[in-house]
Amino acid sequence: MTEQLKNTALIDRFGRRVNYVRMSITDRCDFRCVYCMDEEMTFMPREQLLSLEEIVSLLTAFAELGVEKIRVTGGEPLVRQGVDWLFKELGALKQKTGLKELTITTNGSQLPKYADDLVASGVDRINISLDSLKADRFKALTRTGDLNRVLAGIDAAKGAGFKRIKLNAVIMKGRNEDEIVDLARFAIKNDLDISYIEEMPLGHVTHERGESYCSSDEVKAALDAEFELISSNANTGGPSRYYQLAGTNSKVGFISPHSHNFCETCNRVRVTTEGRLLLCLGQEHSVDLRAVMRDYPGDVIRLKQAIIDSMEIKPKGHDFNVQSQPIIFRHMSVTGG
Ligand code: 5AD
Ligand code: SF4
Repeated sequence: MTEQLKNTALIDRFGRRVNYVRMSITDRCDFRCVYCMDEEMTFMPREQLLSLEEIVSLLTAFAELGVEKIRVTGGEPLVRQGVDWLFKELGALKQKTGLKELTITTNGSQLPKYADDLVASGVDRINISLDSLKADRFKALTRTGDLNRVLAGIDAAKGAGFKRIKLNAVIMKGRNEDEIVDLARFAIKNDLDISYIEEMPLGHVTHERGESYCSSDEVKAALDAEFELISSNANTGGPSRYYQLAGTNSKVGFISPHSHNFCETCNRVRVTTEGRLLLCLGQEHSVDLRAVMRDYPGDVIRLKQAIIDSMEIKPKGHDFNVQSQPIIFRHMSVTGG
C-alpha cells in the first residue's frame, strides 16, 4: 500500500477545480443514432470494461477527492447488466461523501423498467435523448429505436419523481431542424427542460458532418420566432447557455461545443468504459486508471494519487479542428519557457 497522498484537491494548472465526473459504464447501446454510431459497430471485449465494482471504487475515490456531481452515461447505461446495483452503491455515496448530485443520461428505452428504481437509489436528475416526435423519422435517426417506447419511458420518468427531467435533442440540417419548435412545445406541455445540441465530430459515422451541422444560433433563431427566451444565469461550467421560456416552467439550453468557448470554466473530466480518464473532450490527454486499479488492487491511495496527478495534464482547452493541426502536448517544463 502506498502511504500518503501528496495533496488532495483536484485543481489543475490553470486553477480550475474539477468537481464533476462523467462516467461511461458501457459502450453498448440498443440504438444506432446516425450522429453517434456506424451502422455496424464493433464493441469492446467485456474484459476490457471496468467491472461494476471497479466503477464503484473509482467513483468513490473521486467523491472522496471532492467531486460533487457524477453523471452516468454510455453508450446506453441502462442496457448494462447490474446497473440497478450500481446506482444503489452510487446513491449511498451521497450519504458517505461530499457527493451532492447523481445524474444519468439515457435514450429512455429502458425507463419503463428502471425509472422508479433510479429515483429510489438517489438519482436526482435525468437527461433523456429525443430528436424527433415523428415515429418514422425517429426510426430513421436512431436506426433501431421505437418512439413509442421512449415516450413511455418519459412518462415513467415523470411518474417516478426526479427533481428535474431534461430532454436532449441533437439538431441536424435536413433531418429534424423543422422540429425545433415542436420539441420545445412537447417539453413545455410535459413540464420538462430541453437542450439543443450541436453535432460534434466524434468518431466515424456514415454521413458528412459538415452538411448536417446546425449551429445553436440557428436553433435559437427558430425558437425566438415562437417564444420569448429570458436569459438565465444558470452556469454549469460546461458548454451550455440556458434561457427560461417565458410564461412556462421550462428552460431551454444550447450546447454549443463549436461556436462558444467555455474552456476557461471547465470543471469536469470524463472516464471511458475501459477506465481511461479523459481530461478534455476534444483532446487525447488521458490516464489509464484501470491499469492502476488492476496492477495495485485495493490501493486506494495510489488510485487517488493518479487522479490528483492527472490534473497536471488537463489541457487548457479544446479545438475541434485538431485533425488539420495536431496539438502536441508538452510538459510543464517546456510550455513554461
Ligand atoms: N454530437 C452531438 N451529440 C451527440 N450525442 C451523441 N453523439 C453525439 C454527437 N456526435 C448526444 C446524444 C445524447 C447525448 C448523450 O449526446 O444524443 O443526447
Ligand atoms: Fe449513441 Fe445515445 Fe444514440 Fe445510443 S442512444 S446510439 S449512445 S446517441
